Amino acid sequence: MPIATPSPSPAELLDLATRTAENAAHLLVDGLRRGGLTVDTKSSATDMVTEIDRAAESLIAEMILGERPDDGLVGEEGTNRPTSSGVRWVVDPIDGTTNYLYGHPGFAVSIAAEILDGDPSGEAVTVAGVVWVPLLDEVYTATIEGGAHRNGASIHASVVTDPATALVASGFSYDPDRRRRQAEVLTQVLPQVRDLRRMGAASVDLCSVACGRVDAFYERGLQPWDHAAGALIAREAGATVATLDGGPPSTACILAANPGLWPRLSTMLSDAGAADA
Ligand code: IPD
Ligand code: CA
Ligand code: CA
Repeated sequence: MPIATPSPSPAELLDLATRTAENAAHLLVDGLRRGGLTVDTKSSATDMVTEIDRAAESLIAEMILGERPDDGLVGEEGTNRPTSSGVRWVVDPIDGTTNYLYGHPGFAVSIAAEILDGDPSGEAVTVAGVVWVPLLDEVYTATIEGGAHRNGASIHASVVTDPATALVASGFSYDPDRRRRQAEVLTQVLPQVRDLRRMGAASVDLCSVACGRVDAFYERGLQPWDHAAGALIAREAGATVATLDGGPPSTACILAANPGLWPRLSTMLSDAGAADA
């Protein structure tokens, strides 16, 4: 009788994710100090990629697959490897590349581990995630049902429930037409909330919800590597993280806020046409 391979624990996966993110973060900081980076564009003139995005993704894939060769890994810069172990890694080597190029501290290495067979519905379940923000010396981590932490200390989402006193973060697509529509939605949201923030890295925005640095985050058009780790961290910090109609976070949209604020913001954003922006 074959012996089944035991599933790795979320803590084991987080340990590997964190060690890997630390190495990648050093690479990012070294690249920034060196300067003179090669920059290409991707989907539009504003969607940039540097040699460091690609080098960091290679480093992350080599380190994770070196220790766990049967795992799958999907990364923003093109790595797409199937899993035979049931574990899949979701990697954004630099979330916030524009910030990175400007030396603005709002960029991060984002690594999540999903279990593909851990849910009866067949959906992937994110079980561990790290968002490493090198220039802020902040390391956000979470494991499923294990809580969320910043530099090892427990963190929690805010308790603000009135949208009028909520600080709301958002982000914009790289597509110029979608950007215009997203900005139009925000003209309706801004008069109804405390203020808006656009930091430039979705993973950091989700961690900002997790630690109460903002009260909510909303964005449409994100990819799995933008939100996989941050969504787990925000959820483990007590936030509701879902599409405007309550489904699992997706490319369609993601709204993260504490459970008292979430429904009221969801209604406000829907009324403002956010679902179509
Ligand atoms: C982007 C950032 C940004 C968000 C964009 C993302 P990238 O990721 O997370 O905040 O608004 O939608 O694409 O391109 O810097 O990895
Ligand atoms: Ca990203
Ligand atoms: Ca990226």
